[in-house]
Amino acid sequence: MNKKWWNNSVVYQIYPKSFNDTNRDGIGDLNGIIEKLDYLKELGIDVIWLSPVYESPMDDNGYDISDYENISKEFGTMEEMDRLIQEADDRGIKIIMDLVINHSSDEHPWFIESKSSRENPKRDWYIWRDGNESGSSPNNLRSIFGGSCWEFDEGTGQYYFHSFSKKQPDLNWENPHLREEIYRMVRWWLDKGIGGFRVDAITFIKKPEKFIEEVSDGVDGLRVVKPNQPGVGKFLAELKKQTFAHYNIFTVAEAPGVELDQLAEYSGDEGYFDMLIRFDHVDLDMGEDGKWYTNNKWTLVDFKKAISKNQEAIKGNYTTALYLENHDQPRSLNRSIPKEDINERSAKLLATSYFFLKGMPYIYQGQEIGMTNIEYSTIESYDDISTIDQYNAALEAGYSKEKAMSFVYRRSRDNARTPMQWSDKENAGFSEVSPWLQVNPNYKEINVKKALENKNSLFYYYQNLIKIRKNPTYVDVLMSGDYEELFKDHLEVFVYLRQLNDQKLLVITNFSNKDVHLDLNEKAKQIVIGNYEDTPMLDGEVMVRPYECMVYELD
Ligand code: NOJ
Ligand code: CA
Repeated sequence: MNKKWWNNSVVYQIYPKSFNDTNRDGIGDLNGIIEKLDYLKELGIDVIWLSPVYESPMDDNGYDISDYENISKEFGTMEEMDRLIQEADDRGIKIIMDLVINHSSDEHPWFIESKSSRENPKRDWYIWRDGNESGSSPNNLRSIFGGSCWEFDEGTGQYYFHSFSKKQPDLNWENPHLREEIYRMVRWWLDKGIGGFRVDAITFIKKPEKFIEEVSDGVDGLRVVKPNQPGVGKFLAELKKQTFAHYNIFTVAEAPGVELDQLAEYSGDEGYFDMLIRFDHVDLDMGEDGKWYTNNKWTLVDFKKAISKNQEAIKGNYTTALYLENHDQPRSLNRSIPKEDINERSAKLLATSYFFLKGMPYIYQGQEIGMTNIEYSTIESYDDISTIDQYNAALEAGYSKEKAMSFVYRRSRDNARTPMQWSDKENAGFSEVSPWLQVNPNYKEINVKKALENKNSLFYYYQNLIKIRKNPTYVDVLMSGDYEELFKDHLEVFVYLRQLNDQKLLVITNFSNKDVHLDLNEKAKQIVIGNYEDTPMLDGEVMVRPYECMVYELD
């Protein structure tokens, strides 16, 4: 693998609305991020992925953009954005922006024009169709956030298409003028010196050739829109050629629907992006069509399988995004650890379980201090559109309110969006006024200030993990060493080996509250890290204590 500035990077994701409020409106802002750059520097990360800060009516918290070249007023100004890029640069940190180009907001001037008349030159920048013979939706596709993908426009008597909410109309990528305008905008951002992009929902940009005809006849309800349709590659290749390829940046794409045998086409030097964000390990409990109420039961073996099949698929010069959390997922501690066992030790175990894999580690804000899920008592306290939709869908499917709330508690995206817990002061030190989303009451115990005061905290453990990823002794084996899973069917431990030439790292994580005895037939020459003070040396066998993890360099 050739050397690139980002090869060895660790990424920290910021969800700006919930990160740090400096102007007392209860909403995080760009100045709030600038204020915390030294904190991030201390953690040791190299790249910040900034969830959208563009002008937006905030129907989907910024993933509905009404002006790609302006900053939303609640977050700040373009001058502050430029200052953030500069201040981050001064600390050796690059910013990558979220690129949301499958759809815009319905309040984007392009859509307002498109909607104004059937003859408007921008009519074709979005997807418009007549209703079917009986005058209802052109077909029975269901949007990701519930309800039909089609919304009727009284003014022009046609329906427009939206894969997500009706305030997020899909852009028509078949139109070359639209594509040109997108590429110009992408270059405009890249010219500012940002480090690249996290690309949103990008495999949705291609609609099936005959998508009206093919899905018009369903009788048993709506069918969810399916990403990654044949032909999408043509657009992705052009996007790269017209933009990314000319800059020293990296791109990480959220590309649902891509199969493992397509990784080489979608990622790496010759691929459309540098790496992908995969969902296999976070969607284990997801029911059919992404429904929260038809949840699947899963075990550690399923989790390990999801990880291993991805690790084994990485063969070429490409890499992958390693992550446990983001703004669309519940907190990882609640997903993987029983409530009564959630603590700093199990959080360190979880961190260790993914940090030694092949790929680029991502940390989501608050993960480094062990933030956990929220349980608001009423649905009215929730903000996320998909949460409201899933709650209503559960009620319609016949579940009680209590049951519907239990699905929300497990899956709501607001679990990850509660304000960052900076201290035990009011509002968790996030804001001096009441925040846009209620803080998690556990901020008194779980907060940054406390973490920084304790040398054994999860924060410093993450700091150590990042140092290990950068340590010249381990860099190569971690980046390009082979991956091999051991004890595959074991329901309590996740154990894997990374190997490059003669160098071997062994990662052992015990996801149970029991002692587990492992016969390994290996001898360690060094302990790389562990989450007990007295990690035992490995000599053929080892007793792994409850939620213990350890990494050995083998003899
Ligand atoms: C994926 C983003 O991560 C999510 O937050 C958003 O709602 C959808 N794409 C639509 O943009
Ligand atoms: Ca603010």
